[in-house]
Amino acid sequence: MVLAPIVAGLVLGCTGPCWQKAHRQVMATDVTWELLSSALDEEGRLTAGACETLCSSSSSLDVEEVHGCVLEDSPVERPTTADTSIPGDTTDTAPPPPRVYFEVTCDVTGTTICKGRHHASIAARHSPVSPDPLARYLAAGWLAEATSVQAFLALAVELERFGAPAELVSRAREAAVDEVVHARLMSALAPTAALGTATYRPTPARDLLAFATENAIEGCVRETFAAVVAAHQSTAATPAYADTFAVIAEDEIRHADLAWAIDAWALSRLEPADRARVESARQAAVEELYAGIEEPAKGTGEVGLPSASEMRRLHDGLVARLWSVAAA
Ligand SMILES: [Fe+2]
Ligand SMILES: [Fe+2]
Repeated sequence: MVLAPIVAGLVLGCTGPCWQKAHRQVMATDVTWELLSSALDEEGRLTAGACETLCSSSSSLDVEEVHGCVLEDSPVERPTTADTSIPGDTTDTAPPPPRVYFEVTCDVTGTTICKGRHHASIAARHSPVSPDPLARYLAAGWLAEATSVQAFLALAVELERFGAPAELVSRAREAAVDEVVHARLMSALAPTAALGTATYRPTPARDLLAFATENAIEGCVRETFAAVVAAHQSTAATPAYADTFAVIAEDEIRHADLAWAIDAWALSRLEPADRARVESARQAAVEELYAGIEEPAKGTGEVGLPSASEMRRLHDGLVARLWSVAAA
């Protein structure tokens, strides 16, 4: 899938952000028994720390606060995909045993991440607090770009682990380099005193289904949408910002293409039921993105963010030309 023509079609004629307010959401996530077993207290309940970690990393939001979580009593068994095998290992041809999952319901408050790629190895992003909306936007943009470096490096490691084609691994590493450039560009625009911070952790052990689901949400929906928004900003921002957004947009379109290429490869290795789960997560992310659209904050006009109605039009365009096509 080549996104450039779609992005160009959507942005031309549309004067086109991503300004999502924090909102509370109750959502479910799966955790394997192996991960869960080290996260329980003596009474078999999730520790507060484990709850925080699980819900922060699994939520589709950039989580600001975890209010609590509930561990379901009954485990769920799911077939293990063939992709978890070690490439070249032919010593055991028997199907692997199903993995045991437990559902955790998380109650969190956060903002929809629509700029910058997220990854399970990013534990938290702490956006700066500033009374100036433009400074807040720019600093959050820098933080998103900076954490995207880690996201792509970790993505490359996981692609290798799953035995993905070397070309995909290389493209992920190249994307990490792009994100270094983006972070530098944004740091030049953002007031250094207001930059945020992030915390990282080793990528949690997970199977191809979890990996593909994250890619579908983060890459095929959010990064794709961010590419469209950045392309719009390159045409609508003031000269002080337009060139930066033009560079970012061109690279983000390539990153979104990479996400769709990873999606095609991963889906080809998943069982039909798991492919349906990935598609369902993608559609849910599309709907969540739409529900979170709101007007850009006053005082951010210079960076060329689209109005809420323009955002919806861009979203509708992606549904019509891309997301619904992928789901068909
Ligand atoms: Fe970027
Ligand atoms: Fe990117």
